[in-house]
Amino acid sequence: EQIEKGGFDHFMLKEIFEQPSVIKDTYRGRLHADKGIIQMSGIEDNLEKFLNADRIIIVACGTSWHAGLVAEYIIEEFARISVEVEYASEFRYRNPIINSKDVVIAISQSGETADTMAAIKLAKEQGAFVFGVCNVVGSSISRESHAGAYTHAGPEIGVASTKAFTTQITVLTMLALRLAKAKGTLTHSDFHRYLLELELIPEKVKEALGTIERAKEIAAAFKDAPNCLYLGRGYNFPVALEGALKLKEISYIHAEGYPAAEMKHGPIALIDEQMPVVVIAPKQGHYDKIVSNIQEIKSRSGKIIAVVTKGDTQVRELADYVIEIPETSDALSPLITTIPLQLLSYYIAVYRDCNVDQPRNLAKSVTVE
Ligand code: G6P
Repeated sequence: EQIEKGGFDHFMLKEIFEQPSVIKDTYRGRLHADKGIIQMSGIEDNLEKFLNADRIIIVACGTSWHAGLVAEYIIEEFARISVEVEYASEFRYRNPIINSKDVVIAISQSGETADTMAAIKLAKEQGAFVFGVCNVVGSSISRESHAGAYTHAGPEIGVASTKAFTTQITVLTMLALRLAKAKGTLTHSDFHRYLLELELIPEKVKEALGTIERAKEIAAAFKDAPNCLYLGRGYNFPVALEGALKLKEISYIHAEGYPAAEMKHGPIALIDEQMPVVVIAPKQGHYDKIVSNIQEIKSRSGKIIAVVTKGDTQVRELADYVIEIPETSDALSPLITTIPLQLLSYYIAVYRDCNVDQPRNLAKSVTVE
């Protein structure tokens, strides 16, 4: 097992550090930025289905559901197709309205999650086209789908999903870009800019992994916190949810992710000098809005841990701790902002002596209801 961990203390840390290379594996042969091409056979063969769809419904569970939320923002913005994201477990039991022009995307690392499987069976029965985004080749969901695209993250052993999440977002971003190209919903120059940027993501993820020492320092300061709040807006709202999920899964600290602007409708009541608040505040996106959210936290003495773009000065003045990440466009930022949050939850769990790779009560793949 020590050999399998490749010199890392845990599979989770190894998998966090694999992200630059597996993201590259995911787009290799599919993304040709120099030629302005994105090609995934599962999409090319079924392009009409996507283009004729009135809407896309994404079904998934856990971390894969968070990747689905990121995809909702990206697909709607790039390709202007309406997207709904559903917990597979709710979708399957609520008698949803599905029609033959719907495209249902199932996202699943394992490809074996029982609820996601049941959701796609239901969608198929009602005539929808089902597209699977799975990591495990030949898995049940990949076989049950009409078509799909694999994530190529390699085996993920740590129960808390890390590299599966970023490679899912990579595939779904490529899907959004491919559809945008077909529909002409992005300008030529934006399309090319995003392709080039996507190609640079592995390098930027590598740079973001350089926040490890900072993550350790912050983890040491907050390892005994009973609660933690994660806030983000826009593309980084799902990242806030995922950051909170990671922390609760492996450290057993109660954590909540919230859209930053919703804070005033509830969570703000929880903020006092004991409450760590992780705020995802990159320069792109709704920066000014998030700065005012940070001011609201500060005036209530909350402890602010901010993920900021390199060189940021405004948030630095307000936050107790900042974690600097490389700059990228708003739409691609989840691939970068999520990295320090993975490291932070990892070290908090390590410092609390938790079983990082096999947290209590959780299973890597939930094949029964
Ligand atoms: C379990 C795992 C999570 C995962 C979720 C969905 O809860 O512990 O890490 O996100 O299932 O799994 P899937 O394989 O469908 O992505």
